[in-house]
Amino acid sequence: MKLSDNKATLSFSNGSPSVDLPVYQGSVGPDVVDIRKLYGQTGMFTYDPGFLSTASCQSTITYIDGDKGELLYRGYPIEQLATNCDFLETCHLLLYGNLPNASAKADFTRRVTRHTMVNEQMQFFMRGFRRDAHPMAIMTGLVGALSAFYHDSTDINNAEHRDIAALRLIAKMPTLVAMAYKYSMGQPYMYPKNNLSYAGNFLHMMFATPCEEFKVNPVIERALDRIFILHADHEQNASTSTVRLCGSSGTNPFAAIAAGVACLWGPAHGGANEACLNMLEEIQKTGGIEKVGHFMEQVKDKNSGVKLMGFGHRVYKNYDPRAKLMQETCKEVLAAMGLENDPLFKLAMALEKIALEDDYFVSRKLYPNVDFYSGIVQRAIGIPVNMFTGVFALARTVGWIAQLNEMISDPEYKIGRPRQLFSGSVKRDVLPLAKR
Ligand code: CMC
Repeated sequence: MKLSDNKATLSFSNGSPSVDLPVYQGSVGPDVVDIRKLYGQTGMFTYDPGFLSTASCQSTITYIDGDKGELLYRGYPIEQLATNCDFLETCHLLLYGNLPNASAKADFTRRVTRHTMVNEQMQFFMRGFRRDAHPMAIMTGLVGALSAFYHDSTDINNAEHRDIAALRLIAKMPTLVAMAYKYSMGQPYMYPKNNLSYAGNFLHMMFATPCEEFKVNPVIERALDRIFILHADHEQNASTSTVRLCGSSGTNPFAAIAAGVACLWGPAHGGANEACLNMLEEIQKTGGIEKVGHFMEQVKDKNSGVKLMGFGHRVYKNYDPRAKLMQETCKEVLAAMGLENDPLFKLAMALEKIALEDDYFVSRKLYPNVDFYSGIVQRAIGIPVNMFTGVFALARTVGWIAQLNEMISDPEYKIGRPRQLFSGSVKRDVLPLAKR
């Protein structure tokens, strides 16, 4: 962390002495004011619900410039990674800080691939779930349960354990997501096939059956690999911050990642792609493309509580660079599947067009985010809507684990313990039951 020549001075209108606060510079992006000693010096906390102005950590992994619509993993623009690299190269980059050369890539792929199977007991664990359980409920349980199966990689303070846990999580997430799908369908689980690519193997475990030969469609394989790359990390978003906070207590990596899965499930975060498709299906049911105008009126009415899912972002205020790439992929996949005239996809395009022109959205800088298109792509591939967030979780696992490992290796890391502004009752006495 580089100390800036500037410092911040905090003064008070009640005559209390002002305090100087150090300012640090990152390699790029806003400087930060160091308030760690504020409470000790003034007896005051800062107040920032939703972390609108608070950097919770120092990180070298992912950088976002929301105004420019820029996303960099370890300095590399997402556009270049999505066009020149595959997901496992991206995983190597996020975990170890560099893009692998050919031999390092082969070695990493081999190390991940060795871990694609899950303990056979996992099937019996799965049987405890209802067949109609939401896949994210299953995923939260299964990922947490990995700590019960892999005792040799649960010591978060051991760098070797952390590395094996990272490889296991990256390798096993596709297997678990596909198992959750097969379980819901009542079909036999398909074991991983290690001669396929990471995305190809996932497609095989999802859609193959033991009765027929399954051929991976290369357009779909590439589209899925791109979905994985685009979702691999996104700096200190809600689920990543959850993983860091959970891991800061020293819990094992599988438990920390399970916390991330649970957080991702919410519709304001990873659940948005599912919520977006549900929204499209609902509009379709209640009048289709003719009713788009009426739906948009509801979105603009603050009292309706209706939001246009797949639009808006806390950080990207001009456009989401991932959405641009996903839109490209979306067109390719729809063409490859002959779905350009599917009514739901036409409806999505009509909504997108109105939103990009309507003053409500333009003035608030609300653009389609990655989830708007990734839901459409996943539906075209044949992934059921309630599995979308599971696919996001699969892809984000590498980001979570890279961020968790970075935190544990940071000498400044402490257990996360936010403070509060208390506005409840002051101290009072408990009355005996008869007098209350
Ligand atoms: N539809 C309609 N109005 C919206 C939307 C939307 N999707 N998003 C924001 N607004 C309005 C909001 O009501 C507010 O209006 P006003 O200024 O009149 O009060 C204004 O735009 C600013 O919004 P905000 O709520 O302050 O923005 P935020 O940064 O707190 O929320 C968000 C960001 C992503 C939670 C929100 O845009 C949203 O709920 N979007 C829909 C869900 C979604 O697609 N989420 C996926 C995010 S991308 C995947 C990921 O990285 O997790």
